[in-house]
Amino acid sequence: MINPKRYTITAALPYTNGPVHIGHLAGVYVPADIYARYLRAKEKDVLYVCGSDEHGVPITLRAKKEGITPQQVVDKYHEIIKNSFQEFGISFDNYSRTSAKIHHKTASDFFKKLYEDGKFIEETNQQLYDADAKQFLADRFVVGTCPKCGNEESYGDQCENCGTSHNATDLINPKSAITGNVPSLKETKHWYLPLDQYESWLREWIVVGHEKDWKANVRGQVKSWLDDGLRPRAVTRDLDWGIPVPIKGADGKVLYVWFDAPIGYISATKEWAVQNNKKWEPYWKDKETKLVHFIGKDNIVFHCIIFPAMLKAEGSYILPDNVPANEFLNLENDKISTSRNWAVWLHEYLNDFPNQQDVLRYTLTANAPESKDNNFTWKDFQARNNNELAAILGNFVNRVAVLTNKYYDGIIPAPNKFTDIDLDVLAQIKKYPNRIGNSIEKYRFREALGELMNLARLGNKYLADEEPWKTIKVDANRTKTIMYVALQIVSALSVLSEPFLPFTSVKLKQILNSTEDNLKWDAILSKEELIAPNRKIIEKAPLLFSKIEDSEIQKQLDKLEATKKENEQANKIVEPQKEIINFEDFTKLDMRVGTILEAEKIPKTKKLLKLKVDVGIDIRTIVSGIAESFNVDEIIGQRVTVLTNLAPRKIRGVESNGMILMTETPKGELTFLEPEKENVKNGEQIS
Ligand code: MF3
Ligand code: ZN
Repeated sequence: MINPKRYTITAALPYTNGPVHIGHLAGVYVPADIYARYLRAKEKDVLYVCGSDEHGVPITLRAKKEGITPQQVVDKYHEIIKNSFQEFGISFDNYSRTSAKIHHKTASDFFKKLYEDGKFIEETNQQLYDADAKQFLADRFVVGTCPKCGNEESYGDQCENCGTSHNATDLINPKSAITGNVPSLKETKHWYLPLDQYESWLREWIVVGHEKDWKANVRGQVKSWLDDGLRPRAVTRDLDWGIPVPIKGADGKVLYVWFDAPIGYISATKEWAVQNNKKWEPYWKDKETKLVHFIGKDNIVFHCIIFPAMLKAEGSYILPDNVPANEFLNLENDKISTSRNWAVWLHEYLNDFPNQQDVLRYTLTANAPESKDNNFTWKDFQARNNNELAAILGNFVNRVAVLTNKYYDGIIPAPNKFTDIDLDVLAQIKKYPNRIGNSIEKYRFREALGELMNLARLGNKYLADEEPWKTIKVDANRTKTIMYVALQIVSALSVLSEPFLPFTSVKLKQILNSTEDNLKWDAILSKEELIAPNRKIIEKAPLLFSKIEDSEIQKQLDKLEATKKENEQANKIVEPQKEIINFEDFTKLDMRVGTILEAEKIPKTKKLLKLKVDVGIDIRTIVSGIAESFNVDEIIGQRVTVLTNLAPRKIRGVESNGMILMTETPKGELTFLEPEKENVKNGEQIS
């Protein structure tokens, strides 16, 4: 779209089931932020929205795991995520949440409109059901083999391996993610969006219409799904967490999370409009608005097929002009994973590298997974900081600031006659806004950042060639010109760095004392002089980037190594079952509940405790190897289960009459088996 009137920029709403990590930032939020900041610098009408995706199975599963309610889960992570984004300078105009009232209403109304316009198919059929969990199995409640690519761990609604979206009943060998059960089938009613009816329209719009401007990875995926043929998709679910289906006869049903979540972009816009006394409709309904969705590749099907079909069915909305989805970022050559804790969490990064947001933003952009999966390594992070940010950008700015103070007490000198080299450099500066801008507008953020660094390189080369530290001794006039030109470059950098390195940009403006100037992107093209002589720059410039030491990197690598070890331990397969015994064998065991009355360490041993245990029949001495896990005082009064008829044994001179039963993890963590109720008496038997 040439010269849109305004821009609506959306970034995928993160699931509120955990904090955000570098993969999120690299794939979605930093590129979208660069885009939004750039357009604002160009003085465009921009709205950049996001929010928490608070419905859906991932939230419910997390709640089960943490033993809290889904609402508690989303309240907790909404705050953490929102803060992380803020701290990294992600400049949303509004960060909303899908539990907000305005969203419930917007999504319900949207559903109702489609329902009333007859856009859904209502169908009662057999769906996967887990009788033990009393739960229909859709989406992430069920795993099985993907019918398209054979991945054995596909979810009910989408395969994370090939990105395909399907119906839960399409899975081969489905299993409940709650109990592991093989599901049964149970009848239920749902509303379906007949995607098949949108197939040829989608093909025309994306595959043909956007052949030139959409990324190959995005168009390729869309084409492949279209070639396989689309089928009706249920947009409702039998769940108790979500937005209730707003029509009669739909009790106990909620909207499918992927139906409500993208509408969250619209709700976030409405919320923003109310708060800022604006109209929301132009951002979603005016044909001259350019709508761009920033997402990760696992979201392509929803933003290129399902959501557009919803918008089209509704009829009054614009469609995305582009969906520049990124591939995935790996961490140290391994897939980032929340459940395996294989990630660099943003809040932890900020603890370890305070005030170094731009270093991460820089590394993630320089390494962005724009056309293929990419890798984050701590060594690369260190090198990017030390060899690029500090050595090129930081060094240039620092030299200019130091020399300006040293030679002129910080007062920007007026230039004298420009040489050809000076004129060439001044002309070069003016090429950068469009160079960087063109790359950004094509969603090539790595390339754009590379151009920004080229401008800093130009500055370094200019200083190295013109050597003001030498001319100062022989030619005061020449030196003034050189420093003036160098300061023009710093000024351009202070503006052009803003989308990528917003914190650095602020510092650059502080150094130049130009914060008030409010120099805009395009002014660099038109203004003869970016920063005028006679202004006093800062006396002591803050260090823009400090060197990151090997020891800091080692600390991060050690942390990951520890995670790896923990995962290996956790993955140790449980011991295989022992050989089968018959019931008589079992009844020979006399196991009873007891209470530990006394405990003392057996001298010269590490593990052994001598216990006095009341087992109901008597009070007896038992030697137990638990001294490394428990203190003597903390186990007095502990309820235990005892194998009482184990033949007596002498251990370290003490006769032991029985055995305390414990559970043990692969790591050797011990837990007592105690009766669930307190009123179970000592001596009661286990049978
Ligand atoms: N929560 C989804 C995810 O993390 C993204 C939702 S994007 C939206 O994969 F369009 F639905 F908002
Ligand atoms: Zn697949």
